[in-house]
Amino acid sequence: MNNIKALSKTATLALALTGFAIIAAPLATSLSYADDVEGHKSVKVNVPKLGQIERLGKSDFEDNCAACHGENAAGTSNGPSFIDPIYRPAHHPDAAFVRAATKGVQAHHWNFGNMPVPGEIKKYELARIIAYVRALQRANGVQ
Ligand code: HEC
Repeated sequence: MNNIKALSKTATLALALTGFAIIAAPLATSLSYADDVEGHKSVKVNVPKLGQIERLGKSDFEDNCAACHGENAAGTSNGPSFIDPIYRPAHHPDAAFVRAATKGVQAHHWNFGNMPVPGEIKKYELARIIAYVRALQRANGVQ
């Protein structure tokens, strides 16, 4: 009898824990990247409908930046996602992108290491890359 009671207690506890996990899981994912101590995770990105310039920027981004910053700027183990409040325009204005793309970046926000100076990027390509990144950010609540 006692055994059965204990068993049903365990079952109730297990059910309660499962319920908690179901509720807690989406909360945990919505906290996502910024709280990831390692800073090495890629984020889920909603890709909006892109305008013409932004589409060109996507292709420039894929050629020059995605190896580290990830497809759709989702991040990789080599570099951060731009879908992060840290990179909102008020904190990293377009000038920060120009600086990064011409001078590289000393690691200071994460533990990915430094960003080397990328290959030569034309001004108009960089402008398209920025337009693309901002479109992704807006579509994901980073503004
Ligand atoms: C070889 C990998 C690599 C490539 C390629 C790369 N980046 Fe980065 N980038 C990084 C890393 C790593 C950081 C984060 C440094 C840190 O810890 O703050 C970074 C940071 C940045 C930042 C933030 C700068 C700041 O002021 O904090 C910008 C903007 C940026 N990159 C833009 C670009 C653009 C645009 C391209 C393509 C033209 C590009 N990156 C290509 C690795 C890379």
